[in-house]
Amino acid sequence: MKLKIAVLAGDGIGPEVTAEATAVLRAVAAAGGHTFEYIELPVGGTAITNFGTPLPDKTLQESLACDAVLMGAVGDNKFNALPPSERPEAGLLKIRKELGGFANLRPSVAYPALAENSPLRAEVTKDVDILFVRELLGGLYFGEPRWWDKEKKLAHNTMVYSADEVTRVAKVAFELAQKRKKKVTSVDKANVLEVSQLWRATVDEVAKGYPDVKLEHQLVDSMAIHLMNIPRNFDVVLTENLFGDILSDESGVITGSLGMLPSATIGGKVNLYEPVHGSAPDIAGTGKANPLGAILTAAMVLRHSGNLEAEAKAIEDSVTAVLDKGLRTADIARGAAFVKTGEMGKAVLDELNTRLK
Ligand code: IPM
Ligand code: MN
Repeated sequence: MKLKIAVLAGDGIGPEVTAEATAVLRAVAAAGGHTFEYIELPVGGTAITNFGTPLPDKTLQESLACDAVLMGAVGDNKFNALPPSERPEAGLLKIRKELGGFANLRPSVAYPALAENSPLRAEVTKDVDILFVRELLGGLYFGEPRWWDKEKKLAHNTMVYSADEVTRVAKVAFELAQKRKKKVTSVDKANVLEVSQLWRATVDEVAKGYPDVKLEHQLVDSMAIHLMNIPRNFDVVLTENLFGDILSDESGVITGSLGMLPSATIGGKVNLYEPVHGSAPDIAGTGKANPLGAILTAAMVLRHSGNLEAEAKAIEDSVTAVLDKGLRTADIARGAAFVKTGEMGKAVLDELNTRLK
């Protein structure tokens, strides 16, 4: 199998964790006789510094010509004073839009070995396996008009969704639920927002096509509580862009660290893969970054762009195995001894190589 992968490592810990993710992909390619080609391209703060823009045109064009785009993270405190449209994050939002993927899949799995890492009791997080399907191209992130009138001391953003936008992402959620526990929880704020009323009505319509899947609706505020109280009640959680951003971060509490969470964005011209965590500039270069989110993201590349399910599973099993052996990066060490980013990556590689034989 051939795959051309654009590697947009970005800022802060992005390059460190991405290096561990590509190492894992190289091992899979070597063991299976696959040809994976990598093109490293600038994005985010480093792209602003070197090219004056968070998404250089070359990065976009080359990415569009690839089979998958693997990102690290973007964001740098150096640019905090800039308006949203000029910040490193603007590069990420632009490439999301241009690649066209609208369904952002964010799995949140509770690892038994990390049960003590969550502030939630082990009995609460036991067996939790949630898949967030976050709509990624609409809502407040992209709605127009948007402005900040500093003289008038007034700012404006727009939350807008069309039924078509809701339908296409809802279909992805129901199809994935059919392969899981056959339950979709759709999250909105339909007691206040017209957009949410449209969302709910549209999801109800889509659900008719999937009679084997159970659908429930939750308001986002009570969902935030249920997610901490009874997370194992959820299978696929479908929601709009901003609610999905917030709830998927919140679900990091279940795993014990945001550093564990991967994501894949599908449905567009080219799939986009990024760990859920940010660029964490405070720990960049210290070896404290957790590469597991990025490594699990590499597994999603194989699953969704390579159709290499067994290899994806082998990576996920390898991550579980190193955690079971007690290996911890700084974020999940709970004050005890921890290994550096590269050592964790190497441990996963060793596990993976025995599985790929
Ligand atoms: C995420 C991040 C991004 C988002 C930022 C960096 C623009 O928080 O991927 O969850 O809000 O989508
Ligand atoms: Mn986020």
